[in-house]
Amino acid sequence: MKQTYITTSIAYVNAEPHIGFLYELLAGDVLKRYYQAQGKEVYFLTGTDEHGIKVAQAATAAGKEPQNFVDEVSKKFEQLGKEFNIDFDYFIRTTNPEHQKFVQEKWQQLESAGVLKKKKYSGLYCSGCEAFKTEGEIEGGRCSIHEKELEKIEEENWFLVIDEEKKKKIEDWINFSVYPETRRQEAINVLKSDSYDEISLSRSRERYGWGVPVPGDESQIMYVWVDALFNYISALIINNQEDLWPADIQIVGKDIVKFHAIIWPALLIACGYELPKKLLVHGFINSDGKKMSKSLGNVISPHQLIERYGVEASRYLIFRGLSFYDDSNFTWADFDHLYNGELANGLGNLVARVVGIGKKIGEFALPNQTADSTTTGELDFKQSLEQANSLINKADGVITSEKLWENPTEKVSKFEEAVSYLVRASSLLSPFLPATAIEVLRQLKELDSKPLFPRLG
Ligand code: MSP
Repeated sequence: MKQTYITTSIAYVNAEPHIGFLYELLAGDVLKRYYQAQGKEVYFLTGTDEHGIKVAQAATAAGKEPQNFVDEVSKKFEQLGKEFNIDFDYFIRTTNPEHQKFVQEKWQQLESAGVLKKKKYSGLYCSGCEAFKTEGEIEGGRCSIHEKELEKIEEENWFLVIDEEKKKKIEDWINFSVYPETRRQEAINVLKSDSYDEISLSRSRERYGWGVPVPGDESQIMYVWVDALFNYISALIINNQEDLWPADIQIVGKDIVKFHAIIWPALLIACGYELPKKLLVHGFINSDGKKMSKSLGNVISPHQLIERYGVEASRYLIFRGLSFYDDSNFTWADFDHLYNGELANGLGNLVARVVGIGKKIGEFALPNQTADSTTTGELDFKQSLEQANSLINKADGVITSEKLWENPTEKVSKFEEAVSYLVRASSLLSPFLPATAIEVLRQLKELDSKPLFPRLG
């Protein structure tokens, strides 16, 4: 059976990681664990995007050579994955020479296929997006995402022509593959605007120096997005896992849909590859009502979350306190409230109650922990967590209404009912709370109670 192949986008290393990118790492990890619980094998890729003006400028500002700078920052992203117990199989870096060699080979393939043409281009460039902006993406002369002044650029670049046949293929693919529906519609609208008859694939070397050289044209380097998008396949080549393409699930944020729903399929079709099966698009995490971003400076660091809640609880809160597919506003007050309500008083307290009563009973049946696929909407993180919470409430309800702490040995079957709700809840929670789910089962087996989530003061 082919492994399920899941990817996240690869983050720019112009600054330290924030919870926006952690969002994707966690979503990929939760899906991986969810599929594994159903007996599937999963290959999970993440990594860093290390070329482009934005990264080069950050290196200069830090007074470092670009390569040294990206080596340092990329490590922090990889480390972040490890800290949050993200079980990725490979961490791709676009400065990896094997990746660069692969991208150059693909370039040569496009060139020999005769689909590239060189021409003069002028447009307004946002270095935050690393993209030329179209009219609808500009507000008051600034990029509507980064609120940055745009730079007028005129230069000669290489372009990939997207003819009607390719557009039709891309449209059909979008209709089947982009999730959720709102993003699908947006992607179709963008595809139909005429800005996508051709896509610029290169940049002037003089202006943008830090990138993969275009083979056979000294004056150009590859557009950072072309270089970056190919990571999803170069990583497989590097690991002798080519057969895993096409990806089953690609996870990206809403700001980079057009790169993944138009440019990426266009490149794949031009190179003769199949298209990914699903593109999962998440919303933004806002803080102070604005997109949390390195460029805007309103960033919440993943380490602040760990300090306050620990790794397991943070993993849970990110999916419970935010709406993955919509935009959400992060506040510490909401997270504190959920932590105390659902983890300290909810799951944590229930486990302590059950273990306490279990000790008095001694012998009781412990159901097997199985993947509860029938009740979980696989891509609906919130729904899984809601179901888990309603099971926790049911278990608490049985304990309270039956007063199981009074004469518990006479109420074993009611107690077993409560235990079975708890075990089902724990199974639904296990992709989000992998270490906790194991610990819950251990406590139930060994009847050894240790606080899971201490209340916040
Ligand atoms: N390097 C490109 C992606 C290349 S993929 C071939 C990039 N990098 S990024 O660092 O700017 O963003 C990485 C991911 O984090 C994107 O999917 C983006 O949507 C996501 N997030 C960045 N800020 C975010 C929030 N504030 N909230 C949620 N996710 C956001 O784009």
